[in-house]
Amino acid sequence: MFAVCTAFRNFAAQNRTCLIRMKNILVVGSTGQIGSELTMKLRREIPNSTVVAGYIRGAEPKGILLESGPAELADVTNAPQLAAIVDKYHIDTIYNLAALLSAVAEAKPLLAWHIQMDGLINLLEIAREKHCAVFTPSSIGSFGLNTPHKNTPQDTIQRPRTMYGVTKVSTELLSDYYFHKYGVDTRSVRFPGLISYVTLPGGGTTDYAVEIYYAAVKGEDFACPIPAGTYMDMMYMPDALHAAVQIMQADPSRLIHRNAFNIASMSFEPEQLRAEILRFEPDFKMHYVNDPVRKAIADSWPDNMDDSCARAEWDWRPTYDLHSMSEDMFRHLREKLKPAK
Ligand code: SER
Repeated sequence: MFAVCTAFRNFAAQNRTCLIRMKNILVVGSTGQIGSELTMKLRREIPNSTVVAGYIRGAEPKGILLESGPAELADVTNAPQLAAIVDKYHIDTIYNLAALLSAVAEAKPLLAWHIQMDGLINLLEIAREKHCAVFTPSSIGSFGLNTPHKNTPQDTIQRPRTMYGVTKVSTELLSDYYFHKYGVDTRSVRFPGLISYVTLPGGGTTDYAVEIYYAAVKGEDFACPIPAGTYMDMMYMPDALHAAVQIMQADPSRLIHRNAFNIASMSFEPEQLRAEILRFEPDFKMHYVNDPVRKAIADSWPDNMDDSCARAEWDWRPTYDLHSMSEDMFRHLREKLKPAK
C-alpha cells in the first residue's frame, strides 16, 4: 500500500506540470530591468490572466505598470507577505526576478545571498505548499574560469568565484531539488547580458553594452570598463522575455533539463560593439577605463554558450542579432532621449 501511495504521489507530483498554469502570475521584482518589461508582456499576451506586479519599498511601480494591473508589496525575503499574495490572487506561477547583479553582489555579498538564496527558499516553500510553478533566472555568471569558454556546453563545470555566480549555481541546484523531491514545476534559463532601452540594469558586468548606446545617442564619450577582446554572450530584451514565457509554457514531457537552459543569440567584444555603433553615430568616441572587479568577472564568463538543448527541448530560437538589435535600440533611444521642446 505504501509503495502504491508513494508511486501515485510521485506520479501526481511529476504531472503537476501538466495542470493549467500562467493564469494568475506574480512577478517578484516587477520594477527591475527584466520585471518592468516582463510584467507588461504577460499582461498583454496571456489571455484572461491576472499579473501581479510585486515590488519593494523604494522601487514602486509607476505609470502604465501601475495602471495596467494589480501591484503588491512583495519583498522576497518576507515569506508571510509572499504567501498572502499567493493566497489572495490564487497565484499559479511565480517569476522570481529579485536579485543583485554581479558587480554589486561582489560589493555586498551577504545581502546578495540573503536576497537570492533566502528569498528563493521562501518562494520554493510557498510553491511547494500552494502548487505554483517557479521561474528564477540563472545567468552566464553561473560559470567560472575553469568552464570551457567557447561553445560552453549545457552540462559542464560550474565553479564561479563570485557571490553572484555562487547564488546562481545554488539557485539552479535548489530549483532542481524542489522539482525532483517535491514535484515543484521549476524551470529556468541562463540569461546572457541583457540589452534594452526601457529600464537600465544596475551593477552588472554586462551593463556596458547598454550604457554604450545611451552615451552614443547623447553624444557623450563612453568610458568602457571591459577590456577590448573580452567576449560575452548578450541578448536583446525581447528575445529574453520570449524565452522566459516560452520555457514556462513548454511541454514538460520534452524537458530533459530544467534549471537552467543555456540560451544564446549573439556574442561580441567591445571593439565589435564600437564598430557597430559607429555605423549609426559616426562621431561616437570610446575609451577604456580600468575596472578590475568587472574585468575579473568578465574574464571568468563564457565567450559564447551552446544553446542546442534549449533549441531541442522547447524550440528556443532568438530573433535579434547585433545589427537588428542596434537598429531597434537607436530608434527607441533617439525618441526616448529627445530633448523636450
Ligand atoms: N547581466 C548580469 C551581470 O552582468 C549577468 O547575468 O551581472
